[in-house]
Amino acid sequence: MEVLRNAGDMRSFAGKSGGAVGESSVGLVPTMGYLHEGHLSLVRRARRECGAVVVSIFVNPLQFGPAEDLDRYPRDEERDLRLAEEAGVDAVFLPRPEEMYPVGFTTEVRVRGLEDVLEGASRPGHFAGVATVLVKLLNVVGPDRMYMGQKDAQQAVVVRRMMRDLGFAASLVVCPTVRERDGLALSSRNVYLSAAGREAALAIPRALRAAEEAGQAGDGEPPARLAHRLRELVKGDLTLQEGLEVDYVSAADAESLGDAADGTRAILLSCAAKAGDTRLIDNVVVRLEPEKAVQSPLL
Ligand code: PAJ
Repeated sequence: MEVLRNAGDMRSFAGKSGGAVGESSVGLVPTMGYLHEGHLSLVRRARRECGAVVVSIFVNPLQFGPAEDLDRYPRDEERDLRLAEEAGVDAVFLPRPEEMYPVGFTTEVRVRGLEDVLEGASRPGHFAGVATVLVKLLNVVGPDRMYMGQKDAQQAVVVRRMMRDLGFAASLVVCPTVRERDGLALSSRNVYLSAAGREAALAIPRALRAAEEAGQAGDGEPPARLAHRLRELVKGDLTLQEGLEVDYVSAADAESLGDAADGTRAILLSCAAKAGDTRLIDNVVVRLEPEKAVQSPLL
């Protein structure tokens, strides 16, 4: 496995390994490190589908707000490299901030409309930071496929739109959320949860799961009404949970992130809440059309 710290080396590695399809294609799994099974599920999928797998590890300062946890974001380079190697990664791209953002860097990629709802409303500038770093990573690595998780559903929707709008040839593969046995979605930030916080956090997957089941039973109900009902269900459950501070609960059209309405094919039921100091997000997608008919933006 190669460990590459500058863009030139990364570009030439990908250039040698790249082609177009199958054996000679390059798969990119962008991450901020502190790898867990969620990240590794993306790596394994890329391993099955691509000739060469590149993982990038970069805690991207542009996507953290001034009051957010950039400084205390968990890092463990040695462990990440071991896990990547064991998972069969061909190259890890580990740029320093100066490599990604040289002095004078001033470009910003905005995905208007999609970037300022839901997570974007709570974290102004976050998705511009994500879109900007991914444009750079896509340009440096030049993958045929990029792998991301449904765990960050809005991120996947924003990135898919950005890639279409800017004409990136790579395809985006969105993989299902990996959860602990008890349902908690894996996240690098879970290490900060206290025992009590973790217990409270379990209300999130429980509420989403219950609403997902209620949604599947909601045959023929107009999407706007169904969305409202599911949102209220989740909100009710989470508000009752001691030790959990709800930021938002949303039931939106999974493709436009706007209100669910007639014609909505899938509802993205998502929420953010704080357990202690740790902010958690999670979501489920409720499909309103038979699975095969829905080219969901997420799955
Ligand atoms: P990070 O939080 O490290 O996540 C990297 C990728 O792993 C994302 O695509 C995320 O959706 C996916 N992922 C995280 N937890 C997951 C889980 N439990 N199941 C499945 N996939 C999971 O997301 C970022 O980094 C950054 O915003 C990034 C895209 C790297 C841009 O800086």
